[in-house]
Amino acid sequence: MSKQIVLTGITTTGTPHLGNYAGAIRPAIEASKDENVRPFYFLADYHALIKCQEPARVRQSSLEIAATWLALGLDTSNAVFYRQSDVPEIPELCWMLSCVTAKGLMNRSHAYKAAVSENDGDDPDKGINMGLFGYPILMAADMLMFNADKVPVGKDQIQHIEMARDIASRFNHIYGEHFSIPEAVVDEHAATILGLDGRKMSKSYNNTIPLFETEKKFKKLINKIKTNSLEPGEPKETDGCTLFGIYKAFARADEVAEIRQQYAEGIAWGEMKKVLFEKINEEIAPARERYHALMDAPEHIEDQLQEGAAKAREISVPFMRSIREAVGISPITK
Ligand code: TRP
Repeated sequence: MSKQIVLTGITTTGTPHLGNYAGAIRPAIEASKDENVRPFYFLADYHALIKCQEPARVRQSSLEIAATWLALGLDTSNAVFYRQSDVPEIPELCWMLSCVTAKGLMNRSHAYKAAVSENDGDDPDKGINMGLFGYPILMAADMLMFNADKVPVGKDQIQHIEMARDIASRFNHIYGEHFSIPEAVVDEHAATILGLDGRKMSKSYNNTIPLFETEKKFKKLINKIKTNSLEPGEPKETDGCTLFGIYKAFARADEVAEIRQQYAEGIAWGEMKKVLFEKINEEIAPARERYHALMDAPEHIEDQLQEGAAKAREISVPFMRSIREAVGISPITK
């Protein structure tokens, strides 16, 4: 039986944080160990350009994300781990797909509509580039290029997978069956972690805890997590508590039950922060060391990405040849 193709992209605009780790990276790396799966994980650097025009930031983010995934033990002998921009067939396919995609479909994209609604009253097009408008088509190309079966994403991305399905069907209808139809996988149990200020941990709120800070800085950041003013000895609520929520994403069920008990008994916030720091640190410390070693030797990271790109192109080059043929732009004589 052929392996199931699981594909996902990571936009290269930020530094991986605890929320990314628990919600997306850890499950993706776990999934990559399944023998029945062939993972395609890539740095979505063309996507980064839509919202970030700071070259240094895009470059640094690509490096940090690649180092993070490798340090966490992504098995690159099974997974194809590559940089989107190393596969020029992807933007080429994006064009082919653009030519069968109704503009009206893109008008309905949430990401685009959200940007329009921010312009309330003013020019609706203000600040909106064509990259943002056509972004679901680039995402469709990412998936369809490798015939992805399953695409693990957050809820905000479901619409894009649906659009990719529409676009693939449209292309298949016109030119014959070239693409398989991808399916979104949303992990309902994936941990959502709150940030320093108690809102969802997110780069846009500037409340993140970077995954591989030095141990000292990491501890400091944990100590900065907002709590209420209840004193030691006063019973505390676990529901809605940022510290507890993060703890839950890292601890076993019996450990969580034990901490729940301690909340009822009035554990001091300082003590809970210590427990939390130790729990997370125990899980990530070995990877932190590998991360910093990789960051000091970026040529190893580049080697891995080049290897990944070569594997990806073994598929994309011949596939694109057949797509060119299908639409009628291949050489006249062979
Ligand atoms: N747009 C996705 C995000 O912001 C990242 C992404 C790019 C992606 N291409 C993809 C995810 C293809 C899944 C499949 O999270």
